[in-house]
Amino acid sequence: MASTGSNSTALKRALIFLGPPGAGKGTQAKVVAEVHKLPHLSTGDMLRDHVGRGTQLGLQARPIMERGELVPDEIVLAMVEERIARADCSAGFVLDGFPRTIPQARGLDALLVRRGFGSALVLHIAVAYEDLVRRLTGRRTCKVCGEIYNVYNRAPRVDGKCDKDGGELLQRADDREEVIRERIANYDRQTRPLIDYYRGQSTLVDIDGAADAESVNRAVLAVLARL
Ligand code: AP5
Repeated sequence: MASTGSNSTALKRALIFLGPPGAGKGTQAKVVAEVHKLPHLSTGDMLRDHVGRGTQLGLQARPIMERGELVPDEIVLAMVEERIARADCSAGFVLDGFPRTIPQARGLDALLVRRGFGSALVLHIAVAYEDLVRRLTGRRTCKVCGEIYNVYNRAPRVDGKCDKDGGELLQRADDREEVIRERIANYDRQTRPLIDYYRGQSTLVDIDGAADAESVNRAVLAVLARL
């Protein structure tokens, strides 16, 4: 993917990728984190890790995630607070899939103030409904490194194997069509109001997510280069 050559620059602020399921938040957040040498904090990945390890939190989250609903705010906020307190987040971090409700956004605002950060920069990626469903039903993720593929537009060189490490490519449990539609409906109800919340704070930039991932990536990196 594209690089602006600004890869030694720490951003010293929180970046938020906001958008519906399948908008490309994870795809873009990974690249931005790599280019700017910042940790990539995906609440979905953190929760799936808890589910995989069978922790108390994972046992609680699993049925909620399988239904395509949101995990309670207090659980997610506590998880993010603990993660942000680690030393690797002191120069900034990239949030993917958080915040997702107004209480989470308010909780994050308070956390950022406590940790001496300015307001977060929000990159809002918009994509049409039917494209989201197609992207998500085609998504496959490497079991080992988390690299994201798509059977329709970003297929691995060898079917079912990661190009980077040969790891098995898995389909997420919540990427079944009926669950995808529920996740998108929940996005519209609970997360879409964050667009106005952050627009009101003048910290939101709209990104057209309809183009291919590399073009979207160039647009995202160009926004960050202007900071
Ligand atoms: P989470 O893991 O955050 O899932 P999500 O928000 O539903 O988003 P996705 O990961 O499905 O999509 P994405 O936008 O990252 O797209 P991606 O880059 O992978 O959350 C899962 C669950 O955990 C939630 O339902 C909830 O239960 C719980 N949860 C998580 N956070 C929570 C929170 N804060 N509060 C409460 N509960 C929480 O791309 C998708 C596919 O499209 C890939 O195959 C990719 O290759 C392809 N693609 C990407 N970009 C493009 C492009 N430009 N053109 C064509 N294809 C593209």
